[in-house]
Amino acid sequence: MPGKLHRLGVLSAVVASSVLAGACRQDMHDNPRYEPLEASTFFTDGHAYRVPVAHTVARGSIRTDEHLYTGKIGGQLADALPVAATPELLARGHERFNVFCSPCHGRTGRGDGMVVRRGFRRPPTFHSDRLRSAPVGYFFDVMTNGFGAMQDYSAQVPVPDRWAIAAYLRALQISQHATVADVPAEKRASLDAPATAEDGAGEHAEHGAAGHEKQGH
Ligand code: HEC
Repeated sequence: MPGKLHRLGVLSAVVASSVLAGACRQDMHDNPRYEPLEASTFFTDGHAYRVPVAHTVARGSIRTDEHLYTGKIGGQLADALPVAATPELLARGHERFNVFCSPCHGRTGRGDGMVVRRGFRRPPTFHSDRLRSAPVGYFFDVMTNGFGAMQDYSAQVPVPDRWAIAAYLRALQISQHATVADVPAEKRASLDAPATAEDGAGEHAEHGAAGHEKQGH
């Protein structure tokens, strides 16, 4: 029992001293320091900071691969991916396309996304001969720099995902012009199989929402 009381005494002393110390903490907040770009008399050039050596590149920011970062080779739009076209790449592109592009371009790329159905400017279909023959680097370029009324997606979609979307776009284009002969023989049987819930879930949700709204008006 006396031990407990003693501990209580120590505890209240600690609490009291930390409350008192709180008053001194202000000094830490007001530490002498330079604000960004503030002038200084310490260095002869008047800067408070040291200017990086010419051509210094921040770690992780070196972008010498023209194909990867611009979609071009020798200044010309590239017609090949700078990464391997794998099922994983297409799956990632499919998912990212549905997130970032389908609101305007529609899930099938015909330019009838939900935002467009609500009055936003209609983008061209991806299934025109012009865009079907555009090099894949063109899609990367449009996402990186924007195009006409379309803003760029360089801030929202990182470089690897832009290539994943570009690859998926090409697959989407092929899908709209494919014949049974394009399907590998061993996969043809599955063509007539009923669609899984996953295949159409998003589209149903979209149509469901539109139908619901119509009833409301
Ligand atoms: C907010 C709506 C919107 C979103 C989201 C959007 N786009 Fe667009 N996109 C447009 C419009 C509008 C145009 C037509 C612009 C014009 O002609 O001025 C367009 C045009 C394009 C073109 C065609 C350029 C041409 O040569 O005609 C491509 C390719 C394209 N977008 C790709 C994408 C991709 C990939 C994404 C997703 C990362 C995306 N867009 C997201 C609205 C959008």
